[in-house]
Amino acid sequence: MKRLLLTGSSGLLGSCILQRLEGEFELLAPSRDRMDITDAAAVSKLVRGFSPEWIVHLAAFTDMDRAEAEKEKARFVNLTGTENLVEAAKSIGAKLLFASTNYIFGGEGNSPYKPYDPPCPVNYYGYTKYLAEVKGKEILGEDFIIARFGWGIWKSKRSVKLINRLPDIVREGKPLKLADDNLQSISYAPDIAEGIRVIIERGLTGIFHLVNEGEATSYELVKFLLSRMGYDNYPVEKVGLDSISFPARRQKYGVLAITPPVVLRPWQKAIEDFAKRMREN
Ligand SMILES: NC(=O)c1ccc[n+]([C@@H]2O[C@H](COP(=O)([O-])OP(=O)(O)OC[C@H]3O[C@@H](n4cnc5c(N)ncnc54)[C@H](OP(=O)(O)O)[C@@H]3O)[C@@H](O)[C@H]2O)c1
Repeated sequence: MKRLLLTGSSGLLGSCILQRLEGEFELLAPSRDRMDITDAAAVSKLVRGFSPEWIVHLAAFTDMDRAEAEKEKARFVNLTGTENLVEAAKSIGAKLLFASTNYIFGGEGNSPYKPYDPPCPVNYYGYTKYLAEVKGKEILGEDFIIARFGWGIWKSKRSVKLINRLPDIVREGKPLKLADDNLQSISYAPDIAEGIRVIIERGLTGIFHLVNEGEATSYELVKFLLSRMGYDNYPVEKVGLDSISFPARRQKYGVLAITPPVVLRPWQKAIEDFAKRMREN
C-alpha cells in the first residue's frame, strides 16, 4: 500500500476524500493542530517522519469573500502553506497533488477552459491558488500535479454554503433568488476522490480538471437538487449574477474542460446520488 498524506481532511471535500481513500492507502490526515501548513518546521517534521509517496494537499483558505479583506492571511495559507509542503515533498522525493480551482481563470470565456489556457484569476482567492500552482511547478516540476475543481458538493454540518443549508431553507420556507446566467462546472466529492485515486494509481502527471461532465447555472443546479429532494415546486427566482453583490468577483463562465483519462460522470447523476444521501439524513 502506498503511503499518502492528506491535508484539509476536516473540510467540506476533504472529509469525503478521507473516507474514500482510507482503505486504498496507508493514510495520515493530520488536523491543523497537529500540522499547521504555515509552520514550515512542523510540516517538515511530520512529512519526514511519515515519509509518504504522495501528498494530497487540500488545506486552504477557501472563503473567497473574506480573502478580499484578509489578503495577507489568504496568501500566507494558500501560497506559503503550499510552498512548505512542496519543499517537504521535494526533500523526500514525494509527489504532491494540489487542489486548485476554476477561479484561476477570468470567467469571461464561452468555451470550457482547457488545462493550459492562460490564467487570469477572477478574484484574490483565485490569485493565491494560481501563485501556488506556479510555485509548486517551479519547485517540484513533474512531481507537482494540479487538480482543479469546480463547484464542490458534499454534505457538511458545519458548512454555511447554500447547498448545505438547503434542507433548513426549505423547512423554513425562505425565498431563494439564484443567478441563471453563470455557467460553471460541478465537482462531486466522491467523484473527485475517485479521480484522485486514478491519478495516483496510474502515476499520471500534469493538470487535471476533476469536474463532472456538463455545466449548470446556480439556478439550474439548485432547481435540479430540489426536485430530487422531492421539492419540485419550491419557488426559486431567477436573477442575473450582476444583481447580486459579493466582496469577491464571481465568474459568468467558469466551466472547466474535462481531462481524459480522468472523466467523471455527468453532474446530474452525481447530484441524484447526493440528493439520495441528503434524504437519508
Ligand atoms: N469547495 C469548493 O467548491 C472548491 C472548489 C474548487 C477548489 N476547491 C479547493 O479544494 C480544497 C478543499 O476545499 P474545501 O471546500 O473542502 O475547503 P474547506 O471546507 O474550507 O476546508 C479547508 C480545510 O483546510 C484546513 N486548513 C485551513 N488552514 C489551514 C492551515 N493553516 N493548516 C492546516 N490546515 C488548514 C481546514 O482545517 P480546519 O478544519 O482546522 O479549519 C480544513 O480542513 C481547497 O484547496 C480549495 O481551494 C474547493
